[in-house]
Amino acid sequence: MPVDPDAERDFVDLSSVSLRYGDEHGTLALSGVDLRIKKGQFAAIVGPSGCGKSSFMRLVTGLCPPTSGTIKVAGKVVTGPLKITGMAFQNPTLLPWRDTLGNTMLPLEIVQPHRSRLRAQKAQYIARAMALLETVGLKGFEQKQPWMLSGGMQQRANLCRALIHEPQLLMLDEPFAALDAFTREELWAVLQDLWIEKKFTCILVTHDLREAAYLADVIFVMSARPGRVISVHRVDVPRPRTLDSTFDPHFVEIVQQIRSEIAQIRNEARAPATQAQGAA
Ligand SMILES: Nc1ncnc2c1ncn2[C@@H]1O[C@H](COP(=O)(O)OP(=O)(O)O)[C@@H](O)[C@H]1O
Ligand SMILES: [Mg+2]
Repeated sequence: MPVDPDAERDFVDLSSVSLRYGDEHGTLALSGVDLRIKKGQFAAIVGPSGCGKSSFMRLVTGLCPPTSGTIKVAGKVVTGPLKITGMAFQNPTLLPWRDTLGNTMLPLEIVQPHRSRLRAQKAQYIARAMALLETVGLKGFEQKQPWMLSGGMQQRANLCRALIHEPQLLMLDEPFAALDAFTREELWAVLQDLWIEKKFTCILVTHDLREAAYLADVIFVMSARPGRVISVHRVDVPRPRTLDSTFDPHFVEIVQQIRSEIAQIRNEARAPATQAQGAA
């Protein structure tokens, strides 16, 4: 059997990473983060609000340098914005004056080598974008403006835009948080299908523990601020997962375990304030 030399290598590798905003009196967002994600793995990051999850995403994509520690992606130390990533956030931020196809193709106008090839290979790139839009169920909506799409459809288009340049690493920061529960669950399946087909490495930040367990191979739980990884859970539920998987006792057990860890972190974070109130 052929051996993929990258298969066992850590694709994302953080060692003792800390981040303080501003000067030495500024907010310590992350402290001593150690984390490793293998190539092609689907990782989820969960933790209490304000623990530094979005800061972590900015560090990994090179949008902001760490105060100390080392971040490596694909074997190289991250020193500036990475080209091999695609990103999607809670709000789709589609350009209102562009249609779905135009929005999806935006990264091709910015990211090399596509930027130089776009003019000569326009037809192939359009075909690629159309195929991707069809995969996520947006066939027939290519010419619609964002305001003509539902929130779920906008987020489908947003995923396509994040993937059109075939990034090796997809970074998703609470991408489905603004959607209703039914739409959100539909998009879990859409994202899982894309990941199975395209085999990118994925990091998903979410506060929805069922979402984390449905999608991820591995879930990292972060402490309250300053954030660090306090536990790692492997989700050994067979794929493709379905909503039925979420009712499987083993799945429920994983979610409950993480839920109780986060409840404990939140209680510990609240404890000093409660004691102070008691003393007053
Ligand atoms: N650009 C910034 N400048 C200063 N402080 C920031 C900045 N971004 C985030 N913070 C602070 O860092 C901490 C972690 O924020 P964030 O990474 O957004 O957490 P999360 O995404 O887990 O909710 C918070 O206390 C937040 O106020
Ligand atoms: Mg955040």
